Amino acid sequence: MISIIGSGRVGSSIAFLCAASGLDDILLVNRTKDKAIGEALDISNAIPKNSRISVHGTDDYSKMTDSKIIVITASTSIYLKSRTEMIGAQTQMIKKIASYVKHYCHDTIVLMVSNPLDVLTYFFQKETGFPKTKVMGIASSLDSSRFRYLLSEKLGITQSEISDAIVLGEHGDSMVPIFSHTRIHRKKALELLNYNQQKSISIGVRDYWKSLRNFKSRSQFGIAKNTFDVINAILQNNELQIPASVLLEGEYGEYDVCMGVPVIIDKHGVSKIQEIELNEYENKSLKISADIIRNYINSV
Ligand code: LAC
Repeated sequence: MISIIGSGRVGSSIAFLCAASGLDDILLVNRTKDKAIGEALDISNAIPKNSRISVHGTDDYSKMTDSKIIVITASTSIYLKSRTEMIGAQTQMIKKIASYVKHYCHDTIVLMVSNPLDVLTYFFQKETGFPKTKVMGIASSLDSSRFRYLLSEKLGITQSEISDAIVLGEHGDSMVPIFSHTRIHRKKALELLNYNQQKSISIGVRDYWKSLRNFKSRSQFGIAKNTFDVINAILQNNELQIPASVLLEGEYGEYDVCMGVPVIIDKHGVSKIQEIELNEYENKSLKISADIIRNYINSV
């Protein structure tokens, strides 16, 4: 069973994708019970005819027992200027959710989607004491999708012509697009883009969510699909290589902080953290990003 805590736009979109592909039974958990039940009723009509899965809605955390995967998309309210705007309230909420998850689920993989992503991934892991391989924040893969999209727009090419366009670090203003690894038809992106072009793409990736906020209020489908891909990889045991936020214990020279780094995901969760070579500027930027997240953690 996949349990999704929070059945707003993001939670229900993830549930929809999982249901439409008949992946596994789905439980939507929401503080407003009717909303969870309503979404479950609607999404149930998207289950393929030959599938045996079910979708249910509840406000009762005890129903999550035996979840293989728990996805957390809950939010205390809407943030407008920064993902860290409600850091205090969000942290309190995550600690409460962590106590329920710890109580009802003993062997589960947790995907954090709520913001501030890296801070909440950190607190969830600390509160539950779950293995670090079983708790991951999903957002750097979304930032990477945005990076790839903006590169394709800038260069007038399709996304399929771009490889290894990844974004590491904070899911926030200090995120680090890794130009040094990005290839366009085997050519280095660094050779095709001048400094100003790189800068404008980096700002575009960083501020992408603000365009969504201005045009349609909140992001929904991009994060839903990126989260679905991780759920699918875990349940089907298909190795997936993406950047995700995990607790670092020396990798990239960082300790006791969660941030986006390249990982391999399979049925066990994070089976490997990959340490890729970065250039001097990227290394420095990643260090700054880790320090910023650490400051947020210490501020709560
Ligand atoms: C965004 C939200 C999910 O970047 O943080 O769209």
